[in-house]
Amino acid sequence: MCGIVGYIGKKNCVPIIIEGLKRLEYRGYDSAGIAVINEAKSTVIKNKGKVSLLEKSTENVNLNSPLGLGHTRWATHGIPNEINSHPHCNHDQSIMLIHNGIIENYQVLKTMLIKSGFKFISDTDSEVIVHLIDSFVHKGYGLFKSVRFALNEVEGTYGIAVISTKEPDKIIVAKKGSPLVIGIGENENYLASDVNALIAHTKHVVYLEDGEIAEVYADRFTAKTIEDEDIQKEIIELTMNLDEIDRGGYPTFMLKEIMEQPDSVTNSMRGRLIFEEGTAKLGGLEAVLNKLIHSKRFIISACGTSWHAGLVGEYMFEQFLRIPTEVEYASEFRYRNPIINEDDTIFFISQSGETADTLAAMKEAKRKGALVLGICNVVGSSIARESDGGVYIHAGPEIGVASTKAFTGQLTVLALITMLLARKKDMSLADGKALYNEFIQIPEKINRILALNEQIEKIAEEFKDSNNFLYLGRGYNFPVALEGALKLKEISYIHAEGYPAAEMKHGPIALVDENMPVVFIAPKDSTYDKIVSNIQEIKARKGRIIAIASEHDEEIDKLVDFTIKIPDTVRILMPMLTVVPLQLLAYHIAMKKGLNVDQPRNLAKSVTVE
Ligand code: M6R
Repeated sequence: MCGIVGYIGKKNCVPIIIEGLKRLEYRGYDSAGIAVINEAKSTVIKNKGKVSLLEKSTENVNLNSPLGLGHTRWATHGIPNEINSHPHCNHDQSIMLIHNGIIENYQVLKTMLIKSGFKFISDTDSEVIVHLIDSFVHKGYGLFKSVRFALNEVEGTYGIAVISTKEPDKIIVAKKGSPLVIGIGENENYLASDVNALIAHTKHVVYLEDGEIAEVYADRFTAKTIEDEDIQKEIIELTMNLDEIDRGGYPTFMLKEIMEQPDSVTNSMRGRLIFEEGTAKLGGLEAVLNKLIHSKRFIISACGTSWHAGLVGEYMFEQFLRIPTEVEYASEFRYRNPIINEDDTIFFISQSGETADTLAAMKEAKRKGALVLGICNVVGSSIARESDGGVYIHAGPEIGVASTKAFTGQLTVLALITMLLARKKDMSLADGKALYNEFIQIPEKINRILALNEQIEKIAEEFKDSNNFLYLGRGYNFPVALEGALKLKEISYIHAEGYPAAEMKHGPIALVDENMPVVFIAPKDSTYDKIVSNIQEIKARKGRIIAIASEHDEEIDKLVDFTIKIPDTVRILMPMLTVVPLQLLAYHIAMKKGLNVDQPRNLAKSVTVE
């Protein structure tokens, strides 16, 4: 949530900051702002709306400055408007701050500061930090100490950057719970809430950890803990490229990411499958393999789409490993004091690796002594760094707010983990090799499904004006029904629900009439006959049925209104195929409604607030 960018060096920072904000707009896009300092004079420009509006405003002012900060907001406290947007300033605009996170004790601090004579103009929690810093500057402290002292007073989460006209040779940055990365250049330095904003300028970065604060100059930086201990930070070289975060000729990031799945899934499995041994090799699990395999229980915790991947993981683990597995919303897991034992393994799945609820749940599980593993996409993200081990999905940057290729990457990794552990348990070499053979065909099968794009677009045309949708599936495909419904609602704003197909009779069937589209995920597997009965039940109530069915299933055509025929594979891998037409269906419905699929209303890509 919220994108933050900063620059200090010799160039004009304005185009650098605007470009960086555009790359971070997926984190929040309700308002944006920039603050620069030139010859001890500050200028702040803020706008409700997108970064493109801010860009226009900066063009009218002709700013030129070697030091500045920029912010794109996802509102938490205070409606999206110009006043509530960042940067926030002290009374004389000598100190300017951008913030990502939530200050939980802001009311108490605000009341105290108002009593001391500080004037607030916004409804945000963030504004208290800048006045608090100012209160220490008034007492005679320098900027760095003032920021440090202020942060000792705040409770909550933050990634902040602060500049001052009185010390225009530096940016102060600090982190607790919200990501912050420093980009190292030649006589210039950058900062951002994620590396996407930096990659055009440098591949050398330093990740701040929670409780760290740094002073960033044009030619150096120094870091300390908030408690004032000196620390040495490692400079890391990024391997990602700029073209990975461009649309690459597609009209939207979401379509690019859907279409990329044959490649992203290949990357998720690359070098990890071993035919001769019918198994998988996962370097990030080697050190913990013994503990992992002797776990008494698995828990998978995540949010949103990653939680749906976790539900598929539960089917995989229980079918092949016979290890009891529970799947928990990270937000609930953390707050209900779960029973966690030292012989439990807890997997935390997160595309971004920064989701606040998932990160907090992970810290809680770690405190209780469980083995804590991360399944993340973003390399070097907080969850990846704080776990005892884990597996990257290597799907490449996912920019569209609706998660697509990360989901299939997560399923790939969960299946690889299952294969690795199953071969150490009961799975025979022959079965391992058979699974290998199915695995390697998945990218090509996804390609065949993507070739149905036009057919799916026509179906979308039929249903784009529907107000409700039901998605039904059984077994491994029940979580896919949930995921299909989530995709539709988040980008098309159509109400949609996913259900286990048989559960539909216990309530949702009351909703079915001739206006209700029902999407069945009905491949020819062991539950096929039951699904056909469920289809009959909907048909008898005049529901309009779209079926995701197996390529050679001709019987189903007679039962349903529309079929999308896809290749088959073994049950454990089937969700990697069945989800793809649902992603395309949601995509085309939203596009036909004229909506912005990459930046749907009220959402942000990475939810770094609780
Ligand atoms: O980065 P994460 O995987 O932790 O994010 C979890 C959810 O916020 C995310 O999957 C969200 O539900 C997506 N918008 C779904 O498309």
